[in-house]
Amino acid sequence: MLGRGVDPDSERGVDCPGSLPPASDPDLVARAQAAKDALGDRVFVLGHHYQRDEVIAFADVTGDSFKLAKDAAGRPDAEFIVFCGVHFMAESADILTSPNQKVILPDLAAGCSMADMARLPQVEDAWDAMVEAGIADSVVPVTYMNSSADIKAFCGRNGGAVCTSSNAKTALEWAYDQKGPDTKVLFMPDQHLGRNTAVLQLGLSLEDCVVWNPHLPSGGLTAAQLHESKMILWKGHCSVHGRFSPEVVDTLRATIPGVNILVHPECTHEVVLKADLVGSTEFIIKTIEAAPAGSSWAIGTELNLVQRLANAHPDKNISFLDKTVCYCSTMNRIDLPHFVWAMENLVAGNVVNVIEVDPETEKWAGIALQRMLDLPGKSARD
Ligand code: 13P
Ligand code: SF4
Repeated sequence: MLGRGVDPDSERGVDCPGSLPPASDPDLVARAQAAKDALGDRVFVLGHHYQRDEVIAFADVTGDSFKLAKDAAGRPDAEFIVFCGVHFMAESADILTSPNQKVILPDLAAGCSMADMARLPQVEDAWDAMVEAGIADSVVPVTYMNSSADIKAFCGRNGGAVCTSSNAKTALEWAYDQKGPDTKVLFMPDQHLGRNTAVLQLGLSLEDCVVWNPHLPSGGLTAAQLHESKMILWKGHCSVHGRFSPEVVDTLRATIPGVNILVHPECTHEVVLKADLVGSTEFIIKTIEAAPAGSSWAIGTELNLVQRLANAHPDKNISFLDKTVCYCSTMNRIDLPHFVWAMENLVAGNVVNVIEVDPETEKWAGIALQRMLDLPGKSARD
């Protein structure tokens, strides 16, 4: 696997052999288009909703992480999948595409701080502690898509699955069906998505949830706490969505008459409790598209998407649920210079920045991903 756990700036030069075009180059758009035209059907460009407008302009499809995982698998004829998103999404695309297809991440430093909060040795330590506490036989591990391939493989090996913010409820219902009434779920790495889904969608109580802190001995939990829990939440969070506060919700409600608060489930439980609607990026987009003209919305998700929605719907009053700018800095690493650099290299026959998961990890991570793709019902796909 490439490009994990390295300093982004020191890696920048290593990642881009040859020259990265300067952002000031006035021909970047024309160069990107020319490269895309030259590659034709050999290339399929995927763009996550949090990408910059300048990159989204070249995406063949856009989507949230669930939709993009399915879309990647749906173009077996494309030789190159250029993934404009972050590392864990490109890994999933590699797992779901055929071995002769190459997945390319235009900047290898486009990681995800949340995914980095759960490392395989830490998860194996947690599992050992659960074996010691005598509960491992009733624990089903579920990992959010925002995790490395080796964590997904851990879930595949141990009877668990992957979920995204679009299907977390269905995935948890599936998990709680796996081992009878005593089933517990180990949910990684986003404690907020896990708690919000367990409490607000499955009806568990906050007391049913405990938080495993990988930086404390035994996760900071006693064997009794583990036994009594139903949901063991990994202590991870998104550094973007974790910034929204319940106080800002109160301020906006006081200043914008009739405002609807619409947030992503990676926000804290306190923020989600105060929101009117909660859902994945696809859900957020569909909600705004269906909203009546003149309605007011404050949206708690990544700023590129909120700005794009505001521009696309000038008849609606759309604001960002924060006082300060809050781009996802790693999503933003994929910019036009990196896109042009990757595409022009492909045209020249240099296949750069390939994301390749090793076969053993791919096998088990693929099983966990397939369990997600096989989940029943409409909510698995919304
Ligand atoms: P989605 O699952 O909505 O695509 O979100 C991915 C992500 O990175 C959210 O921070
Ligand atoms: Fe990771 Fe948060 Fe960025 Fe999504 S928005 S890629 S979870 S850091």
